[in-house]
Amino acid sequence: MATNSSKRGGHPTSGPAALPPELVPELLDWYDAHRRKMPWREQSTPYRVWISEIMLQQTRVETVIPYFERFMEKLPDIAALAAADEETLLKLWEGLGYYRRVRHLHQAARLIADAHGGIFPSDHAAILNLPGIGAYTAGAIASIAFGQPVPAVDGNVLRVLARLTGATDDIAAPPVKVRFTGLLQAIYPAGRPGDFTQSLMELGALVCLPNGEPKCADCPWHDRCFARRHGCTATLPVKAPPRPRRVVERTVLLLCRLDAVALVKRPAHGLLAGLWEFPTLEGKMEPDAVRRHLEKEGIAITGDVRVLGEAAHIFSHLEWHMTGFRVECASRLPGCQWATPLEIEKVYPLPTALKAFVRRWLAGT
Ligand code: ADE
Repeated sequence: MATNSSKRGGHPTSGPAALPPELVPELLDWYDAHRRKMPWREQSTPYRVWISEIMLQQTRVETVIPYFERFMEKLPDIAALAAADEETLLKLWEGLGYYRRVRHLHQAARLIADAHGGIFPSDHAAILNLPGIGAYTAGAIASIAFGQPVPAVDGNVLRVLARLTGATDDIAAPPVKVRFTGLLQAIYPAGRPGDFTQSLMELGALVCLPNGEPKCADCPWHDRCFARRHGCTATLPVKAPPRPRRVVERTVLLLCRLDAVALVKRPAHGLLAGLWEFPTLEGKMEPDAVRRHLEKEGIAITGDVRVLGEAAHIFSHLEWHMTGFRVECASRLPGCQWATPLEIEKVYPLPTALKAFVRRWLAGT
């Protein structure tokens, strides 16, 4: 594919002014032969497509499938989602991360119940207006669930198109997404828009792989692809390196009484909002300092302060470096609740970051 460079609207852009329409049947034929089975592909109702698309943000298909099945079993429709309580939702989402997504689902379900008579809206602008839905997700729902020729451009599609066209701009730059959306819009097939959306995603997931070797020999666009023909699949797409993550040291306290441990609810806003955690102190503390701190707080310690070792958890923008302690107590800190292992398993949503300490506590470490 020929490339040229130009400046539009003050932003540098590179690549062709149009995509050849033959790309569409070539990719759809490949998709028909290679598409993977996924529960939301068997039955593409707006509700199922919506929930799957939100779950699939920043999360792999294999991880999502069991969460999706469980979610559909417990909350089979918009009315059930709107009526669910937040703790139930967070528990269903436990381990998927980016918990803001499920809060937005809840808000959107309530808005659909109030403003759209409980029916998922088919109008693209109305879809885009729902909490937690941006241009990508609106395009995915409009095309897959409603058969509208609206592109959905996520990171995978940006990578595919950057290689196909030889675009050398940073794919994180918003004008690049706008330009690729426009290029796709011009060739979107009215007959199979949802399949075209999913075929682009599937190509990114199965063939046009990110780091390492893309499987160019398996690609339906092998002969057209700029990056394949010029041997630059390793350098395309161009992407600015991520900002370094902030490291936060935390001292995590498992205050135990009989078979229970104390949990405290995280604030309603911010990271892991509304999930439960163990009482935590800032910084990395030694056992003596932990004991002194708890005694100062009026906690009746009935045994030794046992080290549960270290654990780390990486979020998108931050790393927790944690040291855990197990302390036998006769009382708990203010705001805490005693929880048994069964309650932790079934009721309280806990961040994955803390699961290592739960396991060590249960193993009697
Ligand atoms: N990633 C995002 N949406 C997807 C879909 N519908 N199928 C496969 N992977 C996806």
